[in-house]
Amino acid sequence: MKEMILYGDRILKRDEVQIDIEDRAYQFGDGVYEVIRVYAGKPFCMQEHLERLEKSAAAIRLRLPEPVSKIRELLLRLLEVEGMRDGNLYLQVSRGVAPRNHAFPPDIKAQLVAYTQPSGRPVRELENGVRAITTQDIRWLRCDIKSLNLLGAVLAKQQAVERGAHEAILIRDGFVTEGSSTNIFGVKAGTLYTHPADHLILHGITRKITLDVARESGIPVREEALAEEELKQCEEVFLTSTTMEICPIVEIDGTPVGTGRPGPITRRLQEGFVRKIGI
Ligand code: PDD
Repeated sequence: MKEMILYGDRILKRDEVQIDIEDRAYQFGDGVYEVIRVYAGKPFCMQEHLERLEKSAAAIRLRLPEPVSKIRELLLRLLEVEGMRDGNLYLQVSRGVAPRNHAFPPDIKAQLVAYTQPSGRPVRELENGVRAITTQDIRWLRCDIKSLNLLGAVLAKQQAVERGAHEAILIRDGFVTEGSSTNIFGVKAGTLYTHPADHLILHGITRKITLDVARESGIPVREEALAEEELKQCEEVFLTSTTMEICPIVEIDGTPVGTGRPGPITRRLQEGFVRKIGI
């Protein structure tokens, strides 16, 4: 890996990039981001990620520095320069650089940054499943915006790690919303449940693909939030995200989910997902 960075519309070596201390991403977390998976050199669902980036930016009244078609071109050029086969493409757009003041500075230009992170598919986790804990969802009320403000997620994930788990399942008012960096699904009496795509969750791209696969496979689906106690009675639970795909959760708060092994509906969805990525 050459460790090249897309900075604005230029591709630079990492040590050539200078981030200003008055960048509003640094001072306020004032910006939005995306993580795109790259399989065999090709970005997966790039269009969907760029559309979500546009929506997130509009929701915080941030004007993207370039049209999305140009951002797409720049990202593809970065991938070509890096020659990354498998991994993640991270991009963020900050509102820009200005003396510190909460209100939007006038005439500010948004700052695009992107780079690649090589990594293989999480095959062991996909095969065996992972452990999760539950914790309160202390985040704000616009979780549909993929904002750089991630403290609620960071604190939840750290609790999971300290308790020997992979993910923290977030509970708001007694109902499961999503994971700290994933969407959560449960299978109850053969029906697949997940929180509706409203302001309390990120509208995950893997979530959407999973719902498509379920519908195509004739698995009954309900976009309805599960109560915390219902989650613990589910036959199967799994998480979805760009980096973790469809990953079984086999234990929650120290108690096995169902048989304690990845279940048949999760397996069918995983197979359908792999067909969609075409590898
Ligand atoms: N996380 N929910 C939250 C809170 C997330 O941060 C993410 C993604 C998801 C899954 O969305 P998608 O399927 O579009 O990746 C759900 C990314 C990968 C991250 O922050 O690293």
